[in-house]
Amino acid sequence: MYIICEHIKKLRPYVPGKPVEELEREFGISGSVKMASNENPWGCSESVIPVIEEAGRRLNLYPDTNVFYLKKALAGFHDLPESNFIVGNGSGELIDIVMKTVLSARCNIVMGAYSFILYRLLAPLYGVEINYAGATNFVNSAENMISLCNEKTAMIIVDNPCNPTGTCMAAGELDKLLDFTAKNRILLMIDEAYFEYADSPDYKSMIPSSPDFKNLIVTRTFSKVYGLAGIRAGYAVACTELISHFEKARIPFNVNMLAQQAAIAALKDQAFIGETVRKTKEGLNYLNSELGNIGIETIPTQTNFVMARIPCHFSGCIESLMKTGIIVRPLVNYGLGEYMRITSGTMEQNIRLIKTLKQMMTEQEENNE
Ligand SMILES: Cc1ncc(COP(=O)(O)O)c(C=O)c1O
Repeated sequence: MYIICEHIKKLRPYVPGKPVEELEREFGISGSVKMASNENPWGCSESVIPVIEEAGRRLNLYPDTNVFYLKKALAGFHDLPESNFIVGNGSGELIDIVMKTVLSARCNIVMGAYSFILYRLLAPLYGVEINYAGATNFVNSAENMISLCNEKTAMIIVDNPCNPTGTCMAAGELDKLLDFTAKNRILLMIDEAYFEYADSPDYKSMIPSSPDFKNLIVTRTFSKVYGLAGIRAGYAVACTELISHFEKARIPFNVNMLAQQAAIAALKDQAFIGETVRKTKEGLNYLNSELGNIGIETIPTQTNFVMARIPCHFSGCIESLMKTGIIVRPLVNYGLGEYMRITSGTMEQNIRLIKTLKQMMTEQEENNE
């Protein structure tokens, strides 16, 4: 006889950004755009396509479970030894592997009140309690996180920059966290999924520090600026000892053959990354200024998306946008029901979004008259 574990029964499923196909089926429309999952609207580097075609001829074979060539490429890219890297089926899998390695029902973990939702979906799988630290102006605080730690705290997780707020913690704040966690044997996981977009002088990556600390792990992904969300590849950097334990906790062949080859090719094309970041900034400048013009407040962002406050008289705007074929992300699940998250799209998509919002506002004003 089996029974479903009580802690699993209580979990809520992950709600992804609505896929275009599902929206079009639901409303009987076509030509929709998704500005909800922080993907790269320009696809991926052209150099990836022939590499996938070539790897596609060898799909009868298992992939390299040690991910030798991709780790070698990452090691070269970061100028660190290969033994400091682990590769996953997206960085989401690595977050799970890290949790699986260090969490047990005796522990608690600490994260910012505003953090990527996956952390709070995964952590209960390991029976741990989550302590949420308050933020100021949507920026997470080292002091607040530290104040929640006790002898049962196994881990602090910080997404920097943060999804869904787009804000980042300053370098000095991260140093405080690292200093505290290193002294108290707490694992510090920094999720740098949006690293490439961050340009604040206060921002710093923690990758250069990670091989030197026994308690620091940094994750990155190929799903955002690299435009490979569909193929699933992410990596983490840590000291060799931590990596050796994480390696034991992962399933063999977790990174498929296409993902390994695609990521190597994508990493080589840094011109594509630079160009994506440039166009994204252009798009965000446009969105911030146009949203401001129509009275929609935005939070300054270090990512490829913007969190925007929905005016109270405009509360149905997410559903209305969907009916016109524009998918943005509601943030009810994040406890931020009065906000929406908009991924910066191509300029054409951004213009369409603003035009539609303006039209919807005008119609609403006319109906109210
Ligand atoms: C902060 C953050 N971390 C990790 C991920 C997961 O990315 P991946 O596709 O690599 O699993 C996301 C995806 O939205 C994210 O926003």
